[in-house]
Amino acid sequence: MRLDKLLGHTGWGTRKELKELCKSGQVTINGDICRDSGRKVDPQEDVVSVGGQVVSYEEYIYLMLYKPAGVVSATEDNVSKTVIDLLPRQYQGSRLFPVGRLDKDTTGLLLLTNDGTWAHGITSPKKHRAKHYQAVVEGHIPADLGERFASGIVLDDGLHCLPAEARQTGDHTIAVVVEEGKFHQVKRMCAAVGLTVTKLHRSSIGQVALDERLQPGEFRPLTEDERNSLSL
Ligand code: URA
Repeated sequence: MRLDKLLGHTGWGTRKELKELCKSGQVTINGDICRDSGRKVDPQEDVVSVGGQVVSYEEYIYLMLYKPAGVVSATEDNVSKTVIDLLPRQYQGSRLFPVGRLDKDTTGLLLLTNDGTWAHGITSPKKHRAKHYQAVVEGHIPADLGERFASGIVLDDGLHCLPAEARQTGDHTIAVVVEEGKFHQVKRMCAAVGLTVTKLHRSSIGQVALDERLQPGEFRPLTEDERNSLSL
């Protein structure tokens, strides 16, 4: 792999910036200064450093983000800030993308990766992965809410949802568990029972729960166990 590709992937700058960085003599390969940003390196064998700091290269990255309200689950957007914009520069060259989507106003657990195969395994409808949501709702919460979700809600456009779980948790709050990821699914399921969702938060996907130590906008890498639990 070219040196500038490795450094770009790990957030050290654009191709042009990396050319300058190398020229300035700050980059070493196995202890020797390398002024040519196009030099070929073996990420598994060669030790690349910038200003004495060893660059650790991992092809695939897996993060959990506490998505705040007001940012879109996309890699680029002409109008709004994206979830990728929340990440530090180190991750900007890594081609990360969100695994599935949360609406702009929805908060909570969003996974980010650059591993397309892993992401596909999570979003695949065949996997039936439980996703837990908490919603603040307007309207009268029906007494048979649980039964109606369990028997499979039919959405406004006639689409049949798989059986899901819902229960009232407060005067204006409900908890919902769904295994699918249809567009605006939770909001539309709630609408089908006469409820308007005013706030929506996702707390888990499969075995992976949003880390309670994270604040909105913060992220951390997934542990190996978390990553593997979603690969099954
Ligand atoms: N269901 C919704 O309606 N919105 C989300 O963001 C996630 C699930």
